[in-house]
Amino acid sequence: MPSTAKPRQILVTSALPYANGSIHLGHMLEYIQTDIWVRFQKLRGNQAVYVCADDAHGSAIMLRAEKEGITPEQLIANVQAEHSADFADFLVAFDNFHSTHSDENRVLSELIYKRLNDAGHIATRSVTQYFDPEKGMFLADRFIKGTCPKCAAEDQYGDNCEKCGATYEPTELKDPRSAISGATPVLKDSKHFFFKLPDFQAMLQEWTRSGTLQDAVANKIAEWLDSGLQEWDISRDAPYFGFEIPGEPGKYFYVWLDAPIGYMASFKNLCDRTPELDFDAFWGKDSTAELYHFIGKDIVNFHTLFWPAMLEGAGFRKPTAVNVHGYLTVNGQKMSKSRGTFIKARTYLDHLNPEYLRYYYAAKLGRGVEDLDLNLEDFVQKVNSDLVGKVVNIASRCAGFIHKGNGGVMVDANPAPELTEAFAAAAPSIAEAYEKRDFSRAMREIMALADKANAYIADKAPWALNKIEGKQDEVQAICSLGINLFRQLVTMLKPVLPTLASQAEQFLNVEPLAWTDLDTLLTNHQLNAFQPLMTRIEPAKIEAMVAASKEDLAASSTDSGTAQATGNGELTKEPLAPEINFDAFSAVDLRIALVEKCEFVEGADKLLRLTLDIGDAKRNVFSGIKSAYPDPSKLEGRLVLYVANLAPRKMKFGISEGMVLAAGPGGSDIYLLSPDSGAKPGQRVM
Ligand code: MSP
Ligand code: ZN
Repeated sequence: MPSTAKPRQILVTSALPYANGSIHLGHMLEYIQTDIWVRFQKLRGNQAVYVCADDAHGSAIMLRAEKEGITPEQLIANVQAEHSADFADFLVAFDNFHSTHSDENRVLSELIYKRLNDAGHIATRSVTQYFDPEKGMFLADRFIKGTCPKCAAEDQYGDNCEKCGATYEPTELKDPRSAISGATPVLKDSKHFFFKLPDFQAMLQEWTRSGTLQDAVANKIAEWLDSGLQEWDISRDAPYFGFEIPGEPGKYFYVWLDAPIGYMASFKNLCDRTPELDFDAFWGKDSTAELYHFIGKDIVNFHTLFWPAMLEGAGFRKPTAVNVHGYLTVNGQKMSKSRGTFIKARTYLDHLNPEYLRYYYAAKLGRGVEDLDLNLEDFVQKVNSDLVGKVVNIASRCAGFIHKGNGGVMVDANPAPELTEAFAAAAPSIAEAYEKRDFSRAMREIMALADKANAYIADKAPWALNKIEGKQDEVQAICSLGINLFRQLVTMLKPVLPTLASQAEQFLNVEPLAWTDLDTLLTNHQLNAFQPLMTRIEPAKIEAMVAASKEDLAASSTDSGTAQATGNGELTKEPLAPEINFDAFSAVDLRIALVEKCEFVEGADKLLRLTLDIGDAKRNVFSGIKSAYPDPSKLEGRLVLYVANLAPRKMKFGISEGMVLAAGPGGSDIYLLSPDSGAKPGQRVM
């Protein structure tokens, strides 16, 4: 960028991850894509601010907290700590990571709602919905199950049938049941609040066609616009975890109303402790700053219809662009728990360097909304050949000669100006590719330069020249050029590989590299000792990661130290097992046990280690219940049912002595069984 250009002011967001689950490699596609783009903007000298937050509201979070016996506030605090660590370790550098359950978000949500209401964009009317009389709550479609009205398949969700693909209203289901309590739901009326989206039809028609969206996205939206917009239900009845609507006791904002406002709230929170940032300069109607949202293709309608309409109606600026990406597949298929390809961020990090994945995603990400495949064999091959074989190799080939032959000082000579010129000439095109999010083109062009540099060094063969009397100056010139070319490549790769870049800066003995450094060469420059920068991926590490992802799953099923009820959803009518006689039953020594200690197991994603007091002895049990009990200390002091005479089982982390009993299909749906109060540790059951 010419130094006269005014730095741009750019606010960037990634979608706010739900606060009730772990981050996986599908999510990481988005956060890595956004982070690379933001780092590129910063490298160019622009003022870029990258904010995100956990999406902490909604009934799913409320119900999960209830089951864990903790408050929603505790649950979201635990998850926020986990998410923040995952992002930091993947080198995703948010300027702020906040929460939608925050004061800033409450204030902004109330303000936006009030402005919409004052301008006449809110309507109210009565809605009839299924209500769980036992639980005392209205049921969202996914909390209702029953028999499909079309094909009679049992156990289908309230809005669509997985067997025949039919979609329907929950009221059409036969034998409806609440997926929460099992009770038969009743129909009940309640007042709901609606955002009058049709008021914004003309604005949206214009805005969605003004360069804000990729063509494929704009075309999809045009279909919705053409078929007419509906008013959007933005309220939910208590009990709900969210913000109460001002002046409407018992009515809450629907989670998707305050979720995108969370972008503003996170930025506001940052502004409040950063004097040089001005909230209104970014969000005011006349803002000259740029605003970009990066999202996945599943949440397009919220970001390209509801959100710009809310902003417009409340007197704020609208996004400059919404950048949509496709979904991640692994080895050509949907991520799968049984194949071990549903890989959590943490499981990946336990085995592999985050920069490998950042590079692979960059090498495959274009401007489109197509799905992106993580092919694990291709991943190993590409990272090893490009990063280790091409980029790092240049430095490791050249550094030794400079250290041995010239005390680590690069000389003032350019034996191949055509090469340095080719590098300088390529920079604008690579910058343009980054700017347009065409990272795959940027990576291709950078690797083509790396090929040129390697070909030059191979051709000059300094290792051979060095053995010839009188050629030492030439060797120093070739290797100094090699290091300069390496420096250019690292500068261009810095948005993707920040750690590699900072290690290279240390070796090169330079200030943090910026894009303008591409115009200069190092001469008469002292290098620091060369440390190996990046090692090859060993395929065994991939196998271990896949195995660990399967292990996560195994640990949450019956085959670990927890016996659980049916694996098929809480409402499955599991056929009864063959009858047994009383002797067979009484062969099971079932005891009351007190959880004396409960802790995480280093390196295991699903397991907790329980130390059980069974009256006269202590037992060590590994149990695959971590997904449902993310705070193990909460289980300490609790009484459980324990199979005391089960043969000990050797697991990767130690020996599991018996099982504790739990019900539920797995994941967060695991319910430890407990006796009534008064039971004593060691008492035999029955
Ligand atoms: N909480 C909402 C977003 C609110 S934004 C105001 C949400 N959360 S999410 O955790 O389900 O997803 C977060 C982001 O990750 C979304 O943009 C989603 O598209 C993306 N992805 C989730 N799974 C993904 C893949 N398997 N592949 C690629 N992106 C994926 O939606
Ligand atoms: Zn059906």
